[in-house]
Formats: sequence, structure tokens, C-alpha cells
Amino acid sequence: MNRSKITPIVLSVIIVILAAAVVLLLIFMKNQPIETRGVPALIEIAAMEPDSEKWGVNFPNQYSTLLKTETNNTGTVYGGSDPVQKLEVDPRLVTLFAGYAFSKDYKEDRGHMNSVTDVRATLRINDKTPGTCYSCKSASNPSLWAEMGMAAYDKTPFNELGARIEEPIGCANCHEAGTMRLIVTNPALEEALEAQGKDWTTFTRQEMRSVVCANCHVEYYFKGDGKYLTFPWAGGTSIEAIENYYNEYDFADWTHPDSGAEMIKMQHPDYEMFTAGSTHFNAGVACADCHMPYTRDGSVKFSTHDVHSPLTNPAQACGACHTDVDYVVGRVSAIQGQVAATMYAAEDAILDAIEAIKVAAADGKANAKLIEEARALHRSAQLRWDFIAAENSMGFHNPEEALRILASATDLARQAQLKAVQALP
Ligand code: HEC
Ligand code: HEC
Ligand code: HEC
Ligand code: HEC
Repeated sequence: MNRSKITPIVLSVIIVILAAAVVLLLIFMKNQPIETRGVPALIEIAAMEPDSEKWGVNFPNQYSTLLKTETNNTGTVYGGSDPVQKLEVDPRLVTLFAGYAFSKDYKEDRGHMNSVTDVRATLRINDKTPGTCYSCKSASNPSLWAEMGMAAYDKTPFNELGARIEEPIGCANCHEAGTMRLIVTNPALEEALEAQGKDWTTFTRQEMRSVVCANCHVEYYFKGDGKYLTFPWAGGTSIEAIENYYNEYDFADWTHPDSGAEMIKMQHPDYEMFTAGSTHFNAGVACADCHMPYTRDGSVKFSTHDVHSPLTNPAQACGACHTDVDYVVGRVSAIQGQVAATMYAAEDAILDAIEAIKVAAADGKANAKLIEEARALHRSAQLRWDFIAAENSMGFHNPEEALRILASATDLARQAQLKAVQALP
């Protein structure tokens, strides 16, 4: 036979056999039990479902890594998950926060799954504590805010609201069920962004990878008798804008018993510091890049939800962008060491100011106007120092800004001290 006639026949036969093989393979794959293909059964998740375990049926990797935040207990030099008592590490804090609950109990934070246990255990809670304190602690919140409204939620006493707070931080704090997109869930964040003319629904995915953290990792206060959760951002998020905001509103958390100054406690402004022009923020890096790096489980790649100090897994947390991980980790300790030293110097200056004002105020003949000026300077100095002390990265999130603010805190404290001395006859 002619070879040119055989070839097409042989080819057709081969093609038919190959096609049949592909069909059989597809049928075989389709009939495999679902688990062995690694695709979990999907269940429908109710809107704002508080129970992360239910979401976990669809997203087992994200759920199992979130669970790990409960048992992390590794401490780092300035952070980590070991709940050390900061008042023992740095006894100056007892005088700085005299007259306020933070002078009784101030522990290093832990992982997200401990949020409810830890807030209930703190000695800062008493009968008068408002429900507002649960705002950053629970996946039960989004559905409660939808049901009660945030004003009614905030007015409910802490101990009473507690009966309805069942879940620690979970999926419903950051994701929309169904679409799984990242969303703003805290009404106070939505209102604070609106006050700045910003609409989060227009934000990019990369912006949302930081903004979801701003649901909680921000400076805030309880406004008015209703203790309404408010972020002081209307004039901007720099420390100067925040101070102006509080001064206009004439706000104070407590009166310092030694100096008599009207004080403000700052709360973990991680988002404000990071976004104040830090190198990483300017380069388009987000919180989730360092705190929720991609990890692998076999062939599956996902964002780890085991959020903690990046210093305990720098190869993952920094290695995606930096080739020399040892070098950048060394930079973190150099930066943190410098910020800590500058921070302690600011504390010493504030303690000197407190002492000088106390002495002047105890002297019946001192100049009252100068004492008032010294008190205002004490307030100004301490809220700046606290902005950096309460921020969680010991300056790493934004080293230049941290050093700038601390220098100004020390300067204001020395001015306060000088005024108090001048006030004496
Ligand atoms: C470039 C990497 C990077 C980015 C981006 C980043 N962080 Fe951090 N973060 C760190 C490092 C490093 C530390 C210091 C950890 C330590 O001292 O153990 C830290 C510390 C923290 C801590 C305290 C951790 C602990 O163990 O106590 C919190 C909370 C935190 N960051 C939240 C945020 C938030 C919120 C954002 C975004 C607004 C953010 N971080 C952006 C690297 C980063
Ligand atoms: C503290 C906020 C936060 C919580 C709580 C949270 N997530 Fe996420 N999740 C994120 C961020 C940030 C990303 C990254 C999103 C991106 O890159 O677009 C993410 C990504 C995801 C993704 C996309 C795939 C991936 O891994 O990148 C899924 C699915 C997901 N999360 C499921 C869950 C589930 C299920 C829970 C509860 C068990 C949960 N998340 C809790 C913030 C959170
Ligand atoms: C619903 C509020 C909420 C959201 C949203 C949230 N956090 Fe937290 N975060 C907390 C609270 C509260 C703690 C302290 C829990 C404790 O100490 O029990 C915490 C602790 C942490 C810690 C310290 C963990 C440790 O082991 O020391 C890091 C780091 C952190 N958060 C980063 C982030 C990042 C990054 C995001 C955004 C992807 C984020 N958080 C979103 C409330 C929140
Ligand atoms: C998503 C990418 C990304 C991740 C993750 C990341 N970085 Fe960076 N980092 C950058 C970029 C981009 C720059 C700016 C580079 C430049 O301008 O030269 C930078 C700069 C730095 C610098 C120099 C800052 C300065 O002001 O000169 C240090 C230090 C640093 N990173 C440390 C870290 C550490 C530590 C981690 C992990 C905890 C980390 N980075 C994670 C992208 C990243």
C-alpha cells in the first residue's frame, strides 16, 4: 500500500483513541469524591454570620490559621504575643497614667482569637464601663450593630452587652459573606471616612488590605454621655490634627492627680502612623502584606490569617519583597532601639514636668496663669508621647514620624517644666 494513504488513517485512529482517553479521564475525575480533589463543599453563609466556624466550612485554610492566633505566645523585644505587664517593664507608666485605669493594668496584646477573653479579664473594666469597649473585640458586632444601631449598642453597659457577645474577632469583622470581599464593618470607621469626604466603596483592593485593619487599629474616643464610638479624624489623621480636634471639642479622659492637667489617653493608632507617609505606605505596601503574607498548603496558596508579629516569621513576612531578610530584620531592631531610647527620654521629661507642676501648684503663692499654661503643655506633651507608646510597632511602621513626634513631646514637656518653675515666686 501507498504510505501517503496509511498516514491519515493511522492519525485518525490515534486522535479517536486520544479523545476517548480524555473523555474517560474527565468522567473519572468528575466521579471522584469531592474531598480528594481538595475542593470543599460550599455552604451558604448568612450575612454577618458571627460564628467563624461556619465560614470555615468553605474556607478551611483561612479558618485554621485564624484559630492559631489563640495559642501564639512568643514574645519579641517590644511586641509579640506574650502578655507581659507593661507597668512592670516600665514603672514610669504608673506615674504617667496616675488616676487612670491604665496605671492599674496594661498588658501587651495577644492574637485575635483572645480578644473577648482578654477584654473581660482586664482590671480596667468596672460597673461603669460602657458596651463601647466591645467594639473592637467581636465578630458578633456587625450583626448587633445592624440590629440595635451603634448608638444603642454603645449605651448598653459593658456587663449587660456581654451576654450577647459570643464570638472573638472573626470573619464577619473583615469580610462580606457571599462575595468574601473586604469591607468596612465598623460604623465609626465609615463615619470617620465620610467626615474626610472619603467613600470606602471606591477604594482599591490594595487599599482595603490596610483599611480593614482600621476597623480597630486606630485612635478613637467615646463621644458624649452616650459613649458614642468616634474616630477624631475630621481634621485629618496626623497627631496635630487629632490634638486640634480634641481641643476644639474640649475633650479629656481624666485629670492627672499630680499635675492637675486634663489628659487624653491615646489608643493604638497603627493605621494613622503607618499611613502618615511611611516608606512602606508610600511604596503601596499594605498591613496584610507583612501581617498576613501568602502561604502554601500543598498546592493551595492563601493569606495566612494567623496575624502576629512579623518578627516571628520574617522569611514569609518580609521575604516576598526583600531578598536580604537578615538585613531588614536587623534594621527593625536598630529602628526600634532608637525609638525606644527616644521614647524613654520623653517619659523622663514628662515625669520632670509633672513633678515641677506638682511642686508649683502646692505653693500657695505661685502664678496661677503660668501653672495653667504648664498643665496645657503637659497634656500636649503626653498625648504625643502616648501616640507613639500606644502604637504597636515601637516606631517601625513609620520611624521618621515616630522620632519627630517624640522630639516634640520632649520639647513640650521641658517647656512645661520651665513654666512651672517660673510660676514659683
Ligand atoms: C512592612 C511591614 C509592616 C507593615 C506594612 C505593617 N506592619 Fe505592623 N508590624 C511590623 C513589624 C516589624 C512590627 C514589630 C513587631 C514586634 O516588635 O515584634 C509590627 C507590629 C505591629 C503590631 C504589634 C504586634 C505585636 O506583636 O504586638 C500591630 C498590632 C501591627 N503591627 C498592626 C499593623 C497594622 C494595622 C498595619 C497597617 C496599618 C501594619 N501593622 C503594617 C511590620 C509591618
Ligand atoms: C482581620 C481581618 C480578617 C479576618 C478576621 C478574616 N479575614 Fe480573610 N482576609 C483578610 C485579608 C486582609 C485578606 C486578603 C484579601 C486580598 O488580598 O484581597 C483576606 C483574604 C481572605 C480570602 C481570600 C483568599 C486568600 O486567602 O487570600 C478568603 C477566602 C478569606 N480571607 C476567608 C476568611 C475566613 C473564612 C475568615 C474567618 C475564618 C476570615 N477570612 C477572617 C482579612 C481578614
Ligand atoms: C475587629 C477588630 C480588629 C480588626 C478588624 C483587626 N484587629 Fe488586630 N487586634 C485587635 C485586638 C482587639 C487585638 C488584641 C487582642 C488581645 O490582646 O486579646 C489585636 C491584635 C493584633 C495583633 C497582635 C497579635 C499578637 O499576637 O500580639 C496584630 C499584629 C494585629 N492585631 C494586626 C491586625 C491587622 C494587620 C489587621 C488587618 C488585616 C487587624 N489586626 C484587624 C482587633 C482587630
Ligand atoms: C510588599 C512588599 C514589601 C514587604 C512585604 C516588606 N517590604 Fe520593606 N520595603 C518595601 C519597599 C518597596 C521599600 C522601599 C524600597 C526603596 O525605596 O528602596 C521597602 C523598604 C524597607 C526598608 C527601608 C526603609 C527606609 O526608610 O529606608 C526596611 C528597613 C524594610 N523595608 C523592612 C521590611 C521588613 C522588616 C519587612 C517585614 C516585616 C518588610 N520590609 C516587608 C517593600 C516591602
